[in-house]
Amino acid sequence: MVKLGFIGLGKMGSALAIRAVQSGYNVIGYNRTRAKLEGLRDRMDIAPSISDVCEASDTMIVSVTDDAADEDVTLGNHGISDYVKPNKTILDFSTISPMESKYINEKLKRKGVHRIEVPVVGGPSKALRGELIALVGGEREKYEDLMDLIRAFAHRTFYIGDIGSAQTVKLAFNLLVAGYAEILGEGLTLVKKDGIDPRLLINVLNVSTYKTEFSETKGVKMVAENYDPTFYLKHMKKDLGLLTKVANEYEIYMPVMSALWTAYTGAVDQELGDEDFSAIFEYLKKVNNIKK
Ligand SMILES: NC(=O)c1ccc[n+]([C@@H]2O[C@H](COP(=O)([O-])OP(=O)(O)OC[C@H]3O[C@@H](n4cnc5c(N)ncnc54)[C@H](OP(=O)(O)O)[C@@H]3O)[C@@H](O)[C@H]2O)c1
Repeated sequence: MVKLGFIGLGKMGSALAIRAVQSGYNVIGYNRTRAKLEGLRDRMDIAPSISDVCEASDTMIVSVTDDAADEDVTLGNHGISDYVKPNKTILDFSTISPMESKYINEKLKRKGVHRIEVPVVGGPSKALRGELIALVGGEREKYEDLMDLIRAFAHRTFYIGDIGSAQTVKLAFNLLVAGYAEILGEGLTLVKKDGIDPRLLINVLNVSTYKTEFSETKGVKMVAENYDPTFYLKHMKKDLGLLTKVANEYEIYMPVMSALWTAYTGAVDQELGDEDFSAIFEYLKKVNNIKK
């Protein structure tokens, strides 16, 4: 079986790599911060550098934070493009801007590298169960070649179109998620300000037709003030930043998105960035002077 090379073993990258091992793939992984690799060393080969991953694998999976991180690991000094040989394949699971994804593709294409973007819906626990929803952008033929591999991680796959297009859909999706957490947080804040136990709102919501998997899982955790991160609040801010970039590029008026950007930026400024994004409720409580 081919050796899969993972670059970026954060929350999502490590879950994807473990899932690949459990699905029978031979895996080698690299992470910039080696201290974060302790739990992974006995599960897969660990590479000291990106050049070692390029050497050992024909197919690489990238999962890093944002535009800057992706550019660093693909095109930067000692990045993939410094070492990669023609005809290698990259599946990029990072959520980045469509403009950056097109730029990286263009540069790697000149090296004879095939790259498709695979931004995903669902967090690390879904990745571990192979239950992500994969959005795919890039050459359709390449996507069809890679379908079996993508299915190791995702139970639903949508081919969106050319490179960049899957990132646009993913960002539009995360706009909904950021908005959902914010609106639920505002409703809970209002209830709490009136001296009512916010669990009552969640209880009502979760027996109504408006319940969602979000209200049943994160909603319950929000009122219990459990913000163990699956998706960092700072990364939701990052996605709203990407949306701001895209809205400017496409000249789209998105007033709610701008308000969300302000709220999530405020939450990061209040040092909630390393909490789960649902901690937007904590931010709303803080700015509204609501005590525990
Ligand atoms: N977590 C989720 O639920 C979820 C769901 C869907 C999509 N995503 C997307 O998946 C991607 C990864 O998210 P995550 O949750 O895994 O975040 P994370 O835990 O913060 O991991 C980020 C990864 O990016 C690496 N990185 C950042 N800057 C870098 C640079 N300049 N050079 C090399 N490596 C760099 C980090 O390395 P270090 O350890 O050295 O910092 C780490 O491996 C993001 O684009 C995110 O939006 C996440």
